[in-house]
Amino acid sequence: MNLILLLPIVLLPILSSAIPYEQYILAPSSRTLYPLSVHSTNGSVSNTESLTTSSGSSIFQDDSATSYDFGKNIAGVVTLTIGSVSDPGQYIGVTFSESSLWISNKSCDATADAGKDETLWFKLDGPGRYTAPREKERGGFRYMTLVHNTTGSVEVTAAEVYYTAMPHWEDDAIRNYTGYFNSDDELLNRIWYAGAYTNQLCTIDPHQGDALIHIFQINSSISDATNVTWYNNYTITNGSSALVDGAKRDRIVWAGDMAIAVPGIVVSTNDVITIENSINSLFDIQNQTSGQLPYAGRPFPTILSFTYHLYTLLGVADHYLYTGDIEYLSSLWDKWKLALSFSLSFVDDSGLMNVTSPADWLRFGMGGHNIEANSILYYTINQGILLAEALNDTSPIPSWQTTAKAIKSAANALLWNETAGMYIDNETTTLMPQDGNSWAVVSNLTLNSSQAESISANLVNRWTPYGAPALEAADAISPFISGFELQAHFLANNATAALDLMRLQWGFMLDDPRMTNSTFIEGYSSTGELHYAPYLNDARISHAHGWATGPTSSLTFYVAGIQLLNAGGRTWRIAPALGDLKFVDAGFSTSLGFFAAKTQVSDAGWHVDFEAPEGTSGEIKLPSISCVGQVVIQEVNGRCEDIAIDVTEANVRQVSTVGVAGGKWKATLTCK
Ligand SMILES: *[C@@H]1O[C@H](CO)[C@@H](O)[C@H](O)[C@H]1NC(C)=O
Ligand SMILES: *[C@@H]1O[C@H](CO)[C@@H](O)[C@H](O)[C@H]1NC(C)=O
Ligand SMILES: *[C@@H]1O[C@H](CO)[C@@H](O)[C@H](O)[C@H]1NC(C)=O
Ligand SMILES: *[C@@H]1O[C@H](CO)[C@@H](O)[C@H](O)[C@H]1NC(C)=O
Ligand SMILES: *[C@@H]1O[C@H](CO)[C@@H](O)[C@H](O)[C@H]1NC(C)=O
Ligand SMILES: *[C@@H]1O[C@H](CO)[C@@H](O)[C@H](O)[C@H]1NC(C)=O
Ligand SMILES: *[C@@H]1O[C@H](CO)[C@@H](O)[C@H](O)[C@H]1NC(C)=O
Ligand SMILES: *[C@@H]1O[C@H](CO)[C@@H](O)[C@H](O)[C@H]1NC(C)=O
Ligand SMILES: *[C@@H]1O[C@H](CO)[C@@H](O)[C@H](O)[C@H]1NC(C)=O
Ligand SMILES: *[C@@H]1O[C@H](CO)[C@@H](O)[C@H](O)[C@H]1NC(C)=O
Ligand SMILES: *[C@@H]1O[C@H](CO)[C@@H](O)[C@H](O)[C@H]1NC(C)=O
Ligand SMILES: *[C@@H]1O[C@H](CO)[C@@H](O)[C@H](O)[C@H]1NC(C)=O
Repeated sequence: MNLILLLPIVLLPILSSAIPYEQYILAPSSRTLYPLSVHSTNGSVSNTESLTTSSGSSIFQDDSATSYDFGKNIAGVVTLTIGSVSDPGQYIGVTFSESSLWISNKSCDATADAGKDETLWFKLDGPGRYTAPREKERGGFRYMTLVHNTTGSVEVTAAEVYYTAMPHWEDDAIRNYTGYFNSDDELLNRIWYAGAYTNQLCTIDPHQGDALIHIFQINSSISDATNVTWYNNYTITNGSSALVDGAKRDRIVWAGDMAIAVPGIVVSTNDVITIENSINSLFDIQNQTSGQLPYAGRPFPTILSFTYHLYTLLGVADHYLYTGDIEYLSSLWDKWKLALSFSLSFVDDSGLMNVTSPADWLRFGMGGHNIEANSILYYTINQGILLAEALNDTSPIPSWQTTAKAIKSAANALLWNETAGMYIDNETTTLMPQDGNSWAVVSNLTLNSSQAESISANLVNRWTPYGAPALEAADAISPFISGFELQAHFLANNATAALDLMRLQWGFMLDDPRMTNSTFIEGYSSTGELHYAPYLNDARISHAHGWATGPTSSLTFYVAGIQLLNAGGRTWRIAPALGDLKFVDAGFSTSLGFFAAKTQVSDAGWHVDFEAPEGTSGEIKLPSISCVGQVVIQEVNGRCEDIAIDVTEANVRQVSTVGVAGGKWKATLTCK
């Protein structure tokens, strides 16, 4: 009775247009951008500062150049407004670079694995606006250099960039995040938002993928060239947006990269349509006979990758987890099962999959009974069982369960080194990889928590001053694989290790002056050099790579502790794990509604405010703090009974309760 009377009041307008913590959002409020500051000047150029506004006047005399800094990584099409020119036959060239290392008046940074990309030249017929052709949009740059190469003079009155990322969102809405994060650690706050922004920069118009005209033509004849051609005009997916690996390159769809980028997108912008366009583009080119999925989307050549094949399947499982969209799942299910059968056909008598193609995330030595690939397979089969249950297609489940069980037992028998406390890469090596050990924990291939704890501790011991090295890629630091390492530390119940790694590695990636202070790099050396082992050409490295955004989802899922357990959050878990933090506040929306948790910890106890959509249900696993006392969990609107739990010496680290209904709740521990 009361409930019915109260409802209309409760639902009355608490509507507010304010986006929480909006000041951290790096996305622009308008698509028309001007440089923030002058980086450097060469030769005779007047009033360089004036081009940081929409109407300036900067005169380039004879050989001269000015480099501008946008203050963060951006993407777009450049338009120059020209005032006067001394005579016909004048040119202004434009070069772009993500890193300050490759600022040049001769060339851009690189998209091919050799040389540098050519300058974008404008032949000036007289005053007016000169806009680059659309295939010359540059997908990632912080620095833009204007070059004058002729005797005579040119007056530039504006150098603007039309921002092209997030093409399907309205011009004034690029900052309209559906999720937020805040804590008492400013660096972690900036890392969360830089991850969210990196994924926005990797969300492109699908007609402007990289044409990859130099793919596999890497040779010494172009290695010194400053004029490598580049065109961003290949159609890579259907629809009006695509999620690509990197903003500058490759600007194509890679399923492995999506495994990290997608959860980061869900907790920040919930841009589901882009995820669907990208997954669909991979299934569109599936081999209908064998079930084999592509290593990457169009126009990448057909190559078999055991892991990226599986990551595409995990993309479908993630889509269902985050959206609950059973129709979408149904539409891909037959293709999904065919693709899983393809992988299972490589499982041999040992119980493990025998990898016969080396293509992975550009590590070396991917082959045989590889631990990473088998962990991902184990995880994919288990996800498949959940999807089959959701679809009521139970017939394949028993055989999948048997196969999964055999993989787990064979991997532990053949690849676990008890003395070292880690898995080896395959049975012919002593190398213990970062990828396979992290994935073994993430996939629950481990048999018990002490294996996970041992892996976590061993990985921590390998850190260099620049982050967590991937020994399986010649000592590269892989922000991609380190994203899975973060998850492994949380799953091994060491939130502090994960937070320490975020500060060490992602703090470096954000604050080092060679970086963009806004987006995360693809890879670098364990010595901090911006050299990435798989590439010959350092200028090629992407500084905005979605696969490097692991902290964004991990901070929301594990630190704030808001976890979706199935179908868009129909069931959920609230499990804050603050490590050394005292305050964390996060929230995000799925199609089911809004999920949030705000936790404050002090010596006197803790307080958690959380909410989940009506009609859902969940469990809560409360922060562990070493005091005894009493936890009281109350529904804010008083429609459910209070839950009271005594915290004693016996249960101090594992206070939890299940069957909690959606709604707004508060939980308080008061220490005695
Ligand atoms: C300036 O660059 C343009 C475009 O490459 C070229 O056509 C022109 O010859 C150059 N002028 C001089 C004087 O080098
Ligand atoms: C985006 O947010 C701004 C300010 O919060 C608001 O004025 C605008 O209407 C929003 N745009 C859309 C498309 O939701
Ligand atoms: C690159 O192009 C510029 C302008 O067209 C030319 O002056 C220069 O010689 C070229 N450089 C190389 C290495 O080809
Ligand atoms: C991309 O643009 C270049 C230069 O205009 C053109 O030669 C090429 O055909 C275009 N490629 C595609 C796929 O449209
Ligand atoms: C698809 O797979 C079949 C069976 O393995 C193979 O014969 C065929 O060549 C593949 N097709 C393409 C286009 O790769
Ligand atoms: C086994 O792992 C090592 C180390 O990564 C690698 O060098 C070797 O090629 C792998 N074996 C196979 C069959 O791929
Ligand atoms: C994996 O398959 C390849 C190709 O069939 C074979 O040469 C190799 O011996 C197999 N590896 C293992 C560990 O069985
Ligand atoms: C699966 O079966 C359950 C119980 O009969 C039903 O509620 C549900 O709608 C079915 N799901 C699908 C996708 O058919
Ligand atoms: C297991 O690891 C230890 C310590 O790293 C090493 O000494 C030993 O040789 C390894 N055992 C095997 C069977 O590879
Ligand atoms: C992980 O696997 C173990 C069995 O090895 C099982 O008891 C446990 O429930 C699994 N954990 C999860 C989260 O699935
Ligand atoms: C957690 O990781 C940190 C490193 O960040 C380490 O110092 C600590 O010993 C680990 N704790 C446990 C319980 O392993
Ligand atoms: C990096 O960006 C932040 C805003 O995200 C800004 O406060 C800070 O001053 C920038 N640092 C540098 C060195 O530009």
